[in-house]
Amino acid sequence: MIVGKPLLTTRQIQSKVKELAERISQDYKGKDIVAIGILKGAFMFFSDIVRAIKVPLKLDFIVASSYVKTETSGEVKIFYDAREDIADKDVLLIDDIVDSGITLNHIRESMLAKGPKSLKTCVFLDKKERRIEKVPLDYVGFEIPNEFVVGYGLDYEGQFRNLPYISIFKKKA
Ligand code: IMP
Ligand code: MG
Repeated sequence: MIVGKPLLTTRQIQSKVKELAERISQDYKGKDIVAIGILKGAFMFFSDIVRAIKVPLKLDFIVASSYVKTETSGEVKIFYDAREDIADKDVLLIDDIVDSGITLNHIRESMLAKGPKSLKTCVFLDKKERRIEKVPLDYVGFEIPNEFVVGYGLDYEGQFRNLPYISIFKKKA
């Protein structure tokens, strides 16, 4: 297994997180946010961005998965659903990466059914080329090429989530 040199360095990540958090803090001025992170992938981005958001905030998580190795299975499993009341709340759904769009779309639809006042999405990475299901993205960190990436929360078979940067992952031939 090979993890190449960073596609996005820790510095680039930190400055993008700051920029996104500033936009979010502006847009939600005078409001309270319920931030929902999608685990496991979003854990690092989520904890960085909530620390930089400057409006009152409650948080919760959803544990979901649609992946088997490097391919989406097309089936979304929810292992833990957020328990925070989101009815009539301004909800911000936070994920690490949008690939096919199937996971975020599925979760977004199930949250909309709970009647939030508003529901926006914030994703760190967007692999646009791979989109199968359209999903509205309100805040995007970086658009990246069609490569499998690891680090900053993202894994290959559970590994590399703890890397403080993002790298392209290649399997040894
Ligand atoms: P989607 O349903 O295809 O959009 O997949 C979304 C989920 O798959 C993300 O939240 C990630 O957890 C995972 N995923 C997608 N692309 C990658 C990648 O390049 N590296 C690691 N995980 C990925
Ligand atoms: Mg994920």
